Amino acid sequence: MKTAKEIIIVALDVPVRASADILMDRLAGKVDWIKIGLQLFTAEGPSIVREARERGFRVFLDLKFHDIPNTVRQAIRSIRKLDVEMTTVHTLGGPEMLRAAVEEAAEKNLLLLGVTMLTSMDEAQAGAIGLPGPMEEQVVRLGRLAKAAGLSGLVASPRETTRLRAELGAELQIVTPGIRPAGSEAGDQRRTLSPAEAVRSGSDYLVVGRPITQAPDPAQALQSLLDELQNPLSECT
Ligand code: C5P
Repeated sequence: MKTAKEIIIVALDVPVRASADILMDRLAGKVDWIKIGLQLFTAEGPSIVREARERGFRVFLDLKFHDIPNTVRQAIRSIRKLDVEMTTVHTLGGPEMLRAAVEEAAEKNLLLLGVTMLTSMDEAQAGAIGLPGPMEEQVVRLGRLAKAAGLSGLVASPRETTRLRAELGAELQIVTPGIRPAGSEAGDQRRTLSPAEAVRSGSDYLVVGRPITQAPDPAQALQSLLDELQNPLSECT
């Protein structure tokens, strides 16, 4: 059984290194994973990843690649030099792009996750880019594509986890954002789940940002979240 400390991924969604440093200092040793996304990586570059590694964090570099297969292949090759263990590509990039990414990731046991439909997309948005129909069907279709291409897992909203787990089997890793511990604000997340619900619905990893990073005491907020997960995790063994 994985412990709570091993499955929480704190999203370091901050603009600059100074803010990232403060948070990493408070969270080091208390949680295994942090997620570095487009905002911080674009501002600070690969050195922020190295710094996180030096502090002992496992790194999920969430850059959601979507480009021609060769470009994505080369980008994953660059990621392999960074000592990152988890990263993302858009499944909408198509089977050939996904296979190129999978081939490169396999060289270093990089956990390659597919993003299906962004949670900011609704039926109207998807229809406007020529993808009509219920969002859940789109997500399952893209999830199947990801699995067929050999991806290790998917980023999935809380609403989609149960269905994806049922349709795609137990091996696929499912990483779920939109987690809101008891008493925290939803913010702009429309579809949220408590940490316990997310684990029970089949998520392997939970991405948590603002409930920790914007808490008055991030270490305390993290500890409450870890405590909230003890029982659900022991039930899942
Ligand atoms: O602050 P919050 O807990 O909402 O942060 C969630 C994190 O997960 C953010 O980094 C966000 O970009 C990311 N994410 C998401 N929904 C997705 C994919 C990623 O919220 N579908």
